[in-house]
Amino acid sequence: MIQLSRRALLGTAAAGLACPAIAQGAALKVGLMLPFSGTFAALGENIAAAFELCLKENGGKFGGRAVELVRLDDESDPAKAPANVNRLLGRDNVDALVGTVHSGVVMALVQAAREKEVPLFIPNAGNVAATRDLCSPSVFRSSFSNWQPAYGMGKALAAKGVKKAAWVSWEYAAGKESAEGFRDGLKSGGAELVQVLTLPFPETNFQPILAQIPGLGVEAVGAFFAGGGAIQFVKDYAAAGLREKFPLCGSGFLTEGVLKPQGAAAEGIQTALHYGDGIDNAANQRFRAAFRAMTNRDADVYAVQGYDAGQMLAAGLAATKGDASAVKALGAAIRATKIDSPRGAFTLSASNNPIQNIWLREAKDGQNRVIGVAAEALADPGTGCKMA
Ligand code: PHB
Repeated sequence: MIQLSRRALLGTAAAGLACPAIAQGAALKVGLMLPFSGTFAALGENIAAAFELCLKENGGKFGGRAVELVRLDDESDPAKAPANVNRLLGRDNVDALVGTVHSGVVMALVQAAREKEVPLFIPNAGNVAATRDLCSPSVFRSSFSNWQPAYGMGKALAAKGVKKAAWVSWEYAAGKESAEGFRDGLKSGGAELVQVLTLPFPETNFQPILAQIPGLGVEAVGAFFAGGGAIQFVKDYAAAGLREKFPLCGSGFLTEGVLKPQGAAAEGIQTALHYGDGIDNAANQRFRAAFRAMTNRDADVYAVQGYDAGQMLAAGLAATKGDASAVKALGAAIRATKIDSPRGAFTLSASNNPIQNIWLREAKDGQNRVIGVAAEALADPGTGCKMA
């Protein structure tokens, strides 16, 4: 028997139908709200492609129900986010949401998911609020909190004997929250974050920041940048001659999916992330081959997060027999599932955020090779999360 939630029943009554839509075999509509243009475009493309790969591997169905995808380019623009979410929910009538990359844009998705009880799967954006004070039974993350990779990096750096470090990033939630993670990680090993330097998103005029670094009295510099901005920062840092004196490290996005254009400037940079090249498990090998066959590109963390968002939705819908509106049952099933991720199997915390290894990686010959574990089975603190 399919248990229908209040939302599904209201929808059915309003439409004047005798039977619920799912019983008539209507496709489940999933809105993919991602950046397909701008500095994060390549990230959005890999998330979408891997989500589609997961769906394809399931014969185009989740929970026995055909799935139809609706793509929308959010341009990583927070100002356009509420209207974009309304288009997916109002005009396109989607049953579930997958999005997005940018921590500012994701807040409109989180708000809608909370208010309308539509399940949301966050395949990247690390805004801590989504799984801390604004956590919700309808919000699930397949990625990370901004705090997690940066905490791992700070911890690994302190373990190497660094005592003072600085953090550089864009001035928005992801930059601020990763700085806090880095600070906490350093602190756990008796080291100190002495300075945070920022510039507005998505600007790439790094020269005023680079000029300040020699005067900070630090032994190392950590950074949060991603996509096009990360390519430019790593090149500019090397060109400024800073690498020898102030080794550069960061949340792994700094070198993720961008090693080719960064070239020699990235060689030897150590970063921390919940994914790395050469992770030796069957799920990773299978996934990388399938992703390459589908896209002609190498998989990266963004692809993994898109694939795992699909795996999580599939696990939830298998339990609710395709009913996306039964969010409580969906969530219980997802939390009870060990997600067989290419990053290594993980489960969700009570606030619906992955508990996962943060790997220490080093960029070498075009790969982010895993060289150790920066933080094992790391959970975000989930501070302030009260599930309704
Ligand atoms: C974010 O805005 O949360 C964000 C964006 C790009 C990344 C990671 C985090 O690679």
